[in-house]
Amino acid sequence: MAKPPLSMNPTGWFQVAWSDEIGVGDVHTMKYFGREMIAWRAESGQLTVMNAYCEHLGAHLGYGGTVCGEVLQCPFHGWQWNSQGRNVCIPYQDKPNRGRRITTYPVVERNESVYIWNDAQGREPYFDAPDVFASFDDRSAADYYPQQRLFRAGLELHPQYVLENGVDFAHFKYVHRTPIVPVFTRHDFAEPVSYVDFTITFEGDDGQKIEDVNSGVEAINGGLGIAVTKSWGMIDNRTISAITPVDESTSDVRFMVYIGRSPAGGDPARAEARAGEFGREVIRQFEQDIHIWSHQRYSDPPALATAEYEGFTAIRQWAKQFYPDGIGGSAAEVYAQKGFTA
Ligand code: FES
Ligand SMILES: [Fe+2]
Repeated sequence: MAKPPLSMNPTGWFQVAWSDEIGVGDVHTMKYFGREMIAWRAESGQLTVMNAYCEHLGAHLGYGGTVCGEVLQCPFHGWQWNSQGRNVCIPYQDKPNRGRRITTYPVVERNESVYIWNDAQGREPYFDAPDVFASFDDRSAADYYPQQRLFRAGLELHPQYVLENGVDFAHFKYVHRTPIVPVFTRHDFAEPVSYVDFTITFEGDDGQKIEDVNSGVEAINGGLGIAVTKSWGMIDNRTISAITPVDESTSDVRFMVYIGRSPAGGDPARAEARAGEFGREVIRQFEQDIHIWSHQRYSDPPALATAEYEGFTAIRQWAKQFYPDGIGGSAAEVYAQKGFTA
């Protein structure tokens, strides 16, 4: 096993569930960033994500906690907690406990996903989670077939591995066995939300590049946790990859695909079936990457070819801002002990 030498407690938005996994009145149990958490949905539909343990005597609210209107009732002694994590009722006392509070997380529901904001320093969100449609400001969910999903729990990989794939032009031929040669047109790592665009060229059997296919990919990385892509030209799809640390060595991987609807005409049932096949193919290609990532050891500093230097250096420099120490978590600690500077 290769424990990542990068902090597994980075700052940013991370997916913890899909919205349809948590209906009104549901209490959903999960573990992320080494912490037991729950998500519960009030009668009004409002979703709350909080730490799982009751501040009274520590019952786990995910095991028997019940939603009562807009609050969550503990199964142990009936204390009630609201969506800010405040105690609002002790059933056998006039006044609630105003001092104690269960830690809650900023949460957004977007593209059918539940994202929470994680920050070791407790800062409020300072950037927005990307939206696979709105962030590209062109087409909407109605222009696409329903979302297709992949969920792989507890893989030994770090979110940064997945983002580095976005600048990795050389892997297409070997991992995906496609003769795609991306030509990068944008590497913008100035802000916590970063942008990578490329156009697609193909390498023919004779090694000659075929350039004029008029297709490309635009990717938006919202921190380390969520990346959305838009493929345009020959291929019309959107994807979301969302990688969330579970503990010190594993992450949950979620990947979502939307296939573009073709203009009216033809048999709609057949068109939808074909979209299903396209979506499964995109997911299969992502699984080819997962196969590499889940056995990879983070290489730092890596041996890079000249053409790789700019992209990898930029993305790794950008990634540092999301780690609690601003350097890269435990790798930095190792450097410090050895007297290196990172
Ligand atoms: S432990 Fe939750 S009410 Fe007592
Ligand atoms: Fe890939």
